Amino acid sequence: MVVKINCARRFHRAEQAVRRPPFCCRFLQNGRAVQRSHAFRYSGRMHYRPLGRTGWKVSEISFGAWAIGGTWGAVSDSDSLAALHQAVDCGVNFIDTADVYGMGRSERLIAQLKRERKEEIIVATKAGRRLSPHTADGYNASNLAAFVEDSLRNLSTDSLDLLQLHSAPAEVYDRPEVFGALDDLVRAGKIRYYGVSVDRVAEALKAIEYPNVQTVQIIFNCFRPRPAERFFPEAQKRQVGILARVPLASGLLTGKLTRESQFAADDHRRFNRRGEKFDVGETFSGVDYETGLQAVEEIRRLLPPGMPMAAFALRWILAFDAVSCAIPGGKRPAQVAENCAASHLPPLSPQLLSAVQEIYDRRLRAAVHARW
Ligand SMILES: NC(=O)c1ccc[n+]([C@@H]2O[C@H](COP(=O)([O-])OP(=O)(O)OC[C@H]3O[C@@H](n4cnc5c(N)ncnc54)[C@H](OP(=O)(O)O)[C@@H]3O)[C@@H](O)[C@H]2O)c1
Repeated sequence: MVVKINCARRFHRAEQAVRRPPFCCRFLQNGRAVQRSHAFRYSGRMHYRPLGRTGWKVSEISFGAWAIGGTWGAVSDSDSLAALHQAVDCGVNFIDTADVYGMGRSERLIAQLKRERKEEIIVATKAGRRLSPHTADGYNASNLAAFVEDSLRNLSTDSLDLLQLHSAPAEVYDRPEVFGALDDLVRAGKIRYYGVSVDRVAEALKAIEYPNVQTVQIIFNCFRPRPAERFFPEAQKRQVGILARVPLASGLLTGKLTRESQFAADDHRRFNRRGEKFDVGETFSGVDYETGLQAVEEIRRLLPPGMPMAAFALRWILAFDAVSCAIPGGKRPAQVAENCAASHLPPLSPQLLSAVQEIYDRRLRAAVHARW
């Protein structure tokens, strides 16, 4: 949380700064005084990128709606709605959610947002993670059709914009009948497009061999750069859209977390540290917490004056043309505003990109590169 501490104007909440650029103001960020210079200004202009072959242009900083559903500690619907409205105010036109996020809660909040706003908002949801056990056999036509009906109801719509298979087991990518079932749902008008959300690069490469896969969602951030090596060029060749998920490494790459940070019992950053409930890659990007904190301290030294680390981490992602959008989670308006500001910051220099790569190579590569 950033709090303004000295300014000629009256104290105001950070999210309002999106419309009122701060000039040389001092802020308290996690208890530390930081100067925000003229170099970091919120101008409020979002940039848009094509989403594969869909014809849609999506905000390059979009919105990840997992945390507003649950599994991230307590969230209130009023904060979540305010965060969603802030996203639309900042030009976000694409939201990623899933049926399983709060068992429909996240989807229902998005439906409410859509009722309250007139702007076009594209919603990508997901199906599959409600299967218990979560097996490849569960990804059959009748289960998928039933999951789609639930999402249609939650989102109060007749047709889903984009349906993604939700971290399906690897065998699913060897089953053409699963993709046939998705084609049937498109023909029936239940979904407009489909894509996949994958855990590993190998799954991403297999998925895009199916010609109607429009998008791939994958973890991509300063701690997980591997998708850029082989997968991004292949996806670009086939005009497949890429959603960069967990872009802030579950908050680590905001620079606000410390050894003393506490997480609620129902926050996956506490209960899934070692992959106890789902793939450990989804929690802190699979990076050991202590090692992650050390890498973050090195990244902190690279920050251009006045640039918050969250904005830096998102700007790093936007350096890759293959990425359609990053989908940072946001629980409160101030977080969303800070994240969206990354779209109108200048690109990071080649020297900064190399410095991030060097930190990754030295501190993290051995533990994560081959794994995902
Ligand atoms: N298998 C899958 O398909 C899958 C898996 C994971 C994620 N996703 C998608 O990807 C999206 C993004 O990933 P994620 O939400 O896991 O992680 P993330 O975007 O890396 O981190 C989000 C969290 O960081 C904190 N945060 C965000 N912006 C901040 C800011 N400016 N300053 C300080 N703290 C900030 C918030 O939590 P606190 O305030 O509590 O710290 C927020 O919930 C999800 O919402 C979801 O849509 C999909």
